[in-house]
Amino acid sequence: METFWDFKSKNYPSPLDAYGLVTPTKVINKVREFGVDFHQKSILDIGCGTGLYSSIISKEAQHITGVDLSSGMLQRFKEYIAHDGVENIELLQSDFKLFDAQQQYDIVLSAMTPAIGSFEDLHTMMDLSKKTCIYVSFSAPRHSPLMDDILALLGVENKYKSKFFDTKEYLESLGYQVHEDFFEHNWLQEGTVDEMTDDVLEHLKMKDIEVTRMKVKELLQPYVKEDKIIRETFSTIGLLVWHVA
Ligand SMILES: C[S@@+](CC[C@H](N)C(=O)[O-])C[C@H]1O[C@@H](n2cnc3c(N)ncnc32)[C@H](O)[C@@H]1O
Repeated sequence: METFWDFKSKNYPSPLDAYGLVTPTKVINKVREFGVDFHQKSILDIGCGTGLYSSIISKEAQHITGVDLSSGMLQRFKEYIAHDGVENIELLQSDFKLFDAQQQYDIVLSAMTPAIGSFEDLHTMMDLSKKTCIYVSFSAPRHSPLMDDILALLGVENKYKSKFFDTKEYLESLGYQVHEDFFEHNWLQEGTVDEMTDDVLEHLKMKDIEVTRMKVKELLQPYVKEDKIIRETFSTIGLLVWHVA
């Protein structure tokens, strides 16, 4: 069965497209400024996706293990690995909840992934780290005029709540000294009416909103220009870096 993330993998940025690397590069540079050295380290990338973060870190790291539940995302990551002849990345398809780690890693990274959705997941992540943890997530509600309008027209409240500040507060309550920073992260998605209808339908399905394809197509009509729809999304992402040992 194709999952939401398999669906998203088709248009998700890849390390082979420079624009997808802009924000991850800024984030990783900031992690370095916080004193983290990736050189010769073992890394676990939880919810690695197409490898945007791993592709940057692999230039220095000794070895990276990427774990992700979506075969579509991993397939796109493998295309990058084959294209660039990268030899120090190993990919495993698994839900992080079922991930059977056989070792600890110097650095554990989780970027923009629901794989770390609870404090229990956060503890699993920390247990897998010998030293450093890196957590990246939206730190404020995403704002997409097109999606906001569609939700309003359907009479649905946009209930997105960021876990970023809860995570930071929780880590500090455990006594960790946490480095933090924020980045603007905006992107454009362009597609045909059918492609964007599918995209909006998948997002609504994820929010448990039931609506027909015909209705979504009708709601999208005002956004059609020359048979295409462009969707802009504006967001802020937050970075947390802390040492568990
Ligand atoms: C928004 S993408 C982020 C990908 C990558 N970390 C990045 O920042 O570009 C979220 C990723 O998390 C993966 N994911 C979602 N839930 C997961 C879970 N429970 N276990 C492992 N991976 C998961 C998805 O398949 C997807 O590749």
